Amino acid sequence: MKTRKFIPCLCAATLLLAGCGGRSGEVTLKKALKDKFYIGTALSVAQLTGGDTLSERVARENFSAIVPENCMKSMFLQPSEGSFFFDEADKFVAWGEANGMWITGHCLVWHSQAPDWFCVGSDGQNVSPEILTQRLRSHITAVVSRYKGRIKGWDVVNEAILDDGSWRKSKFYEILGEEFIPLAFQLAHEADPDAELYYNDYSMAFEGKRSEVVRLVKTLRERGLRIDAVGMQGHIGMSYPAIEEFEKSLLAFAEAGVKVMITELDLTVLPSPQPNAGAAVEATFEYQQALNPYAAGLPDSVAAAWTGRMADFFRLFLKHQDKVSRVTLWGVCDDDSWRNDWPIPGRVDYALLFDRQGKPKAVVGEIIQSIKN
Ligand code: G3I
Repeated sequence: MKTRKFIPCLCAATLLLAGCGGRSGEVTLKKALKDKFYIGTALSVAQLTGGDTLSERVARENFSAIVPENCMKSMFLQPSEGSFFFDEADKFVAWGEANGMWITGHCLVWHSQAPDWFCVGSDGQNVSPEILTQRLRSHITAVVSRYKGRIKGWDVVNEAILDDGSWRKSKFYEILGEEFIPLAFQLAHEADPDAELYYNDYSMAFEGKRSEVVRLVKTLRERGLRIDAVGMQGHIGMSYPAIEEFEKSLLAFAEAGVKVMITELDLTVLPSPQPNAGAAVEATFEYQQALNPYAAGLPDSVAAAWTGRMADFFRLFLKHQDKVSRVTLWGVCDDDSWRNDWPIPGRVDYALLFDRQGKPKAVVGEIIQSIKN
């Protein structure tokens, strides 16, 4: 379990809002956004098992949807072939049901956090298309049918397309080509015909990725396969992406005939060693003190700039509320965020809507106020 860092918060607006974290009768995010779209958060194992009661409470009081940060990835659900481990995923779903959450499953097919055995044989070579098809069938069928009617939507395929629109040369792609995507959607639909099905990816504001995702959505639909929404992961920074480009993609996906979800929203305030960083987990850099400037607290001016940019994005989501079905933060409180450890481990970031004491940041009040107005 992580250790919470208590960092002095210099933002006066945050202190003013300290009372609206979800005490009964007060307007919370989920109440304010009730008729707009689901407001979700990713939850980790620590929150599921009672090791992090602060984030658990903040999630329960302020969010209407949840997605597991890690415990439903294939390396955890099926660590060796045929041996499934559902304990944590079961707890996650039970918690979601007990708290009236819209539950999304994440994720059925992803090149990262897939167990080593999935795509290779005992000789270390890629398995045949027939064997991989059988493994996908067995994994997707077991997982989706276990939560049939309880998990309302699935990230079926995650991050298959690169920023320039070319296809990621994952093992799934090497063995089955583009066909692994329609196959995964078909298998998920067979296992739970009522579940919503999504394609989810980062850096969606890039023109190349936008066009290829639109082509993918159209191909699936033309083949009669179910796809309900595109998930635009919102791993954004202070200078990227241009909000206009993000909006173009949102509109392009809606135009292709599906809903849009902002699935993994966090806004890093830290300097990046790479431009336009999306969420390529393999791109990591060594720690440098100079790239960890706010370890002792966030200056007011930086907090205000962060608030302004996050508010701009929420204004965009509200403007397109007829197209957006869910906005999900990738974590509850700042301490929870993977951003503290990526692309550089051991930094102090301020990427989420709730601070390290579980207090709503100024932007939460701004969002609530803008809806009231
Ligand atoms: O499971 C091991 C555990 O056994 C070990 O004790 C522990 C020690 O650090 O590590 C555990 O694995 C960690 C895993 O999360 C589960 O907690 C990995 O080190 C860590 O790298 C991994 O990071 C996750 C990352 O996906 C992996 O690719 C992040 O928490 C998670 O936020 C992140 O989420 C992804 C989305 O699924 C897809 N989109 C991008 C997003 C951010 O990368």
